[in-house]
Amino acid sequence: MNSSKPDQYAVIGNPISHSQSPRIHSIFAVQTGQNLEYQAILAEPGHFSTTVNAFRENRGRGLNVTVPFKQEAWIYADLLSTRAERARAVNTLVFQEDGVAFGENTDGIGLVKDIKDNHNLELAGQRILLLGAGGAARGILQPLLNESPARLVIANRTPAKALELALMFTDLGSVTGCGLDELAGQRFDVIINATAAGLSDSVPALPDGVLASDGWCYDLMYGDEPTAFVSWARQQGAARWLDGLGMLVEQAAESFSLWRGIRPDTQLVIATLRNVAGRGSV
Ligand code: ATR
Repeated sequence: MNSSKPDQYAVIGNPISHSQSPRIHSIFAVQTGQNLEYQAILAEPGHFSTTVNAFRENRGRGLNVTVPFKQEAWIYADLLSTRAERARAVNTLVFQEDGVAFGENTDGIGLVKDIKDNHNLELAGQRILLLGAGGAARGILQPLLNESPARLVIANRTPAKALELALMFTDLGSVTGCGLDELAGQRFDVIINATAAGLSDSVPALPDGVLASDGWCYDLMYGDEPTAFVSWARQQGAARWLDGLGMLVEQAAESFSLWRGIRPDTQLVIATLRNVAGRGSV
């Protein structure tokens, strides 16, 4: 092992070439004066642990984990934060000096930080509609409920999955699950899209009037062009419509501070990426 080599970090996923994480973390490293290298690693399905082990042997100190490996990273971790434990998904691995692989999920913290700190919006006391009941929705549920919304409804194309997910979080607040067609006649102050519908430029089928008159919308996806859900929000007369670029940068900053003990400034990075981000989700 070359002892002069900087500490190694990476994002692991499949596909991975579109990932903005190497760019984000390189800017963070320069900004905070940290001597590290950050790369993107493509892992083949079924080779997550072997790829991670090889990375650790080559001075790997931490990983970001993205689609489709967040659940595998959850299994891989020796120790989990309570947040990651609940999410059943890990997006950040820390390889500690004592050999322990610590797993955290910074997606939800990143989302809440973007909403509150970057956009000065409130979640406390709000009626929140969360669209989708897959891994993305599950990963953000605990941080959302920690903000004490008046209520949180998970609505999904397949209603049973929404009901099941809601049941796992009822001890943390007022959370229920339902199908999309059960939303008729209901009103929400905040609608968060955590479905994969945007990948096919579509929007979950929502009844008109589901967004309250001064309500706002957040899409976990981001893109050069407004996402399909952001366009829907504008058509519905939303007071604000936000995409997931800020969340992407904030979750990265949380990972970086876990690894290096210093939190970078995110504003400049969000502004830089806004023009060159391409399309994706965290
Ligand atoms: P992820 O990890 O991104 O959450 P996932 O676990 O496959 O991916 O979950 C995808 C979510 O998007 C699901 O809630 C899915 O609904 P179903 O459970 O009914 O499959 C939702 N989804 C995907 N395409 C959709 C569409 N066109 N309209 C509405 N919901 C959609």
